[in-house]
Amino acid sequence: MVALSRLSAPRSPSYLLPSLLALALFTLLFLYKVDDFVTSTKTMAGHNLEPTPWHIFPAKSFDDETRQSRAYKIIQCSYLSCPYFNRSIMKRPRFQTNKLAAQCPEFFSHIHRDLAPWVKSGITENQVMEAKNFAAFRIVIFQGRLYLDPYYACFQSRMMVTIWGFIQLLRKYPGMVPDVDLMFDCMDKPILNRTERQSNPVPLFRYCTTREHFDIPFPDWSFWGWSEINIKPWSEEFPDIKKGSQAKRWAAKQPRAFWKGNPDVVSPVRLELLQCNDSRKWGAQIMRQDWVQEAREGFEASKLSNQCTYR
Ligand SMILES: *[C@@H]1O[C@H](CO)[C@@H](O)[C@H](O)[C@H]1NC(C)=O
Ligand SMILES: *[C@@H]1O[C@H](CO)[C@@H](O)[C@H](O)[C@H]1NC(C)=O
Ligand SMILES: *[C@@H]1O[C@H](CO)[C@@H](O)[C@H](O)[C@H]1NC(C)=O
Repeated sequence: MVALSRLSAPRSPSYLLPSLLALALFTLLFLYKVDDFVTSTKTMAGHNLEPTPWHIFPAKSFDDETRQSRAYKIIQCSYLSCPYFNRSIMKRPRFQTNKLAAQCPEFFSHIHRDLAPWVKSGITENQVMEAKNFAAFRIVIFQGRLYLDPYYACFQSRMMVTIWGFIQLLRKYPGMVPDVDLMFDCMDKPILNRTERQSNPVPLFRYCTTREHFDIPFPDWSFWGWSEINIKPWSEEFPDIKKGSQAKRWAAKQPRAFWKGNPDVVSPVRLELLQCNDSRKWGAQIMRQDWVQEAREGFEASKLSNQCTYR
């Protein structure tokens, strides 16, 4: 990044660093919880730290409709809106494995690492069914079409937006997405301990994992937008941040590292970070994000594009 900004214009203000800081904040937002020690760690809409099951997926009521339209709606899809699909899009070429593997970009090495526990044994149906015990939903992709089995309600709009991501993937790469059967949990904390489950690894997807867990990481859903906390889809949010970062000249920005987030999330690293809040000694400003207050005020003060005032 530094090299890039030097190449383009050595003296002109660079939006890259503020954008990076904003991006870091964005990532931290993803792991947010509300400052509430008394009733353990809670978010506005419940808590997303405990393992699933959290609460059963609520059944939709169709009582107020005619039987015919009710049946039609249930068949269409009960929980997510998919009012119609375009048959000509559905007719897609069969999945082709040729050439693709040879051209995999470098980041595929991470996928190989994440799936390493199953490289020799393969994934058995029993293992997938065991993963179901921890899953909030199951996604099956068969011949380019997505099938969903929701088990438990997910935190805020996580499930909907995650599935939306899969649908975009299918749209964008017709005929290139192979048949898969995925169990998915949407709470933050990984739960499948590698030491304890060494003999029988369980393949479960979620947004976070560690080296000590089998949980398979999946991209952060909020890049497709997080309406509850005023984060737009990344394609809109990113230009906004870029624009925000240009509002102040580079030289006029405050010369310090800036971090804003919720430290009360059972994370020792974040608690340690609080001790670095000294702009003279460390050149750092560490700010506490109060989600309850932000929620009350419509998340105006936590707008990412307004926080590019540091260099
Ligand atoms: C369905 O998809 C095809 C191919 O993308 C497109 O040409 C056509 O206009 C679409 N039909 C409708 C009704 O949207
Ligand atoms: C995994 O399980 C082992 C054995 O019970 C335990 O010592 C270890 O702390 C656990 N790891 C995590 C990350 O919970
Ligand atoms: C860090 O210092 C700033 C400036 O003194 C202050 O406004 C802020 O509340 C401090 N952050 C924390 C987490 O105490």
